[in-house]
Amino acid sequence: MPKNNIERVSTGLTGLDKLIEGGVVKGSATMILGDAGTGKTIFCTQFIMEGLKNGENCMFITFEETPQDIMDDAAVFGWDLTDYIKKRKLILEYRDPFQTTDITTLMQEEIVAYKVTRVAIDSTSVLGLYFKDEHEVRKQLYKLIQALKSTGVTAILTGEMPEDVKASRFGVEEYVADGVIRLFYIGAGDGAYRQLEVKKMRRTNQKKGAFPMEITDKGIVVKPSAL
Ligand SMILES: Nc1ncnc2c1ncn2[C@@H]1O[C@H](COP(=O)(O)OP(=O)(O)OP(=O)(O)O)[C@@H](O)[C@H]1O
Ligand SMILES: [Mg+2]
Repeated sequence: MPKNNIERVSTGLTGLDKLIEGGVVKGSATMILGDAGTGKTIFCTQFIMEGLKNGENCMFITFEETPQDIMDDAAVFGWDLTDYIKKRKLILEYRDPFQTTDITTLMQEEIVAYKVTRVAIDSTSVLGLYFKDEHEVRKQLYKLIQALKSTGVTAILTGEMPEDVKASRFGVEEYVADGVIRLFYIGAGDGAYRQLEVKKMRRTNQKKGAFPMEITDKGIVVKPSAL
């Protein structure tokens, strides 16, 4: 029986699960926020790979890169998505938010049709390019997260968080999501190193503070024991 009857889902990130009582809460939506190159897309792919390895049906929606880019990037870490796509275990799709003003309906339909239990969306920041009015962006994000949650999937969504601002792009992601994980750099140049902080995780006694993180040839590794 899981603790407090809360079912958890492994993120697939070595070390991160230990910071959050074993994983994210099943059916929750977590934002992964960070500046350019902090590892948001790799996080998504690793999260999806974990689901695929466990036999889950998964969905990866990319708003920025092409599916081929995502597949090529994944291959660097030895993650072969091709077979899963062929077997319809993975739905990997590019969505143009400009063309599909209602990004949520199709997604919901596909989640039901393919019995998807795990979703990654990379990156919500692109919504800012398409919806001029900031209120509209917030509305869309809110709608997207609520729609995902209504299906029962466990979701992660990435978003841009410029380091100098230390707040998400639209200032709403942190509040709408169940969890917020921040990826960032400490230091500059050759001396810079990566860190990960769980800013918020509902229903979870998360370990506070920032922890060292590395991107290795096997993906992202978080080192909770180093502090
Ligand atoms: N095999 C590897 N070994 C170590 N580091 C790697 C490897 N492959 C990629 N990286 C690192 O991962 C970073 C890119 O990660 P990723 O694409 O997930 O970042 P991102 O946060 O999605 O960036 P963006 O905001 O540009 O989309 C690169 O900057 C590089 O430093
Ligand atoms: Mg990216």
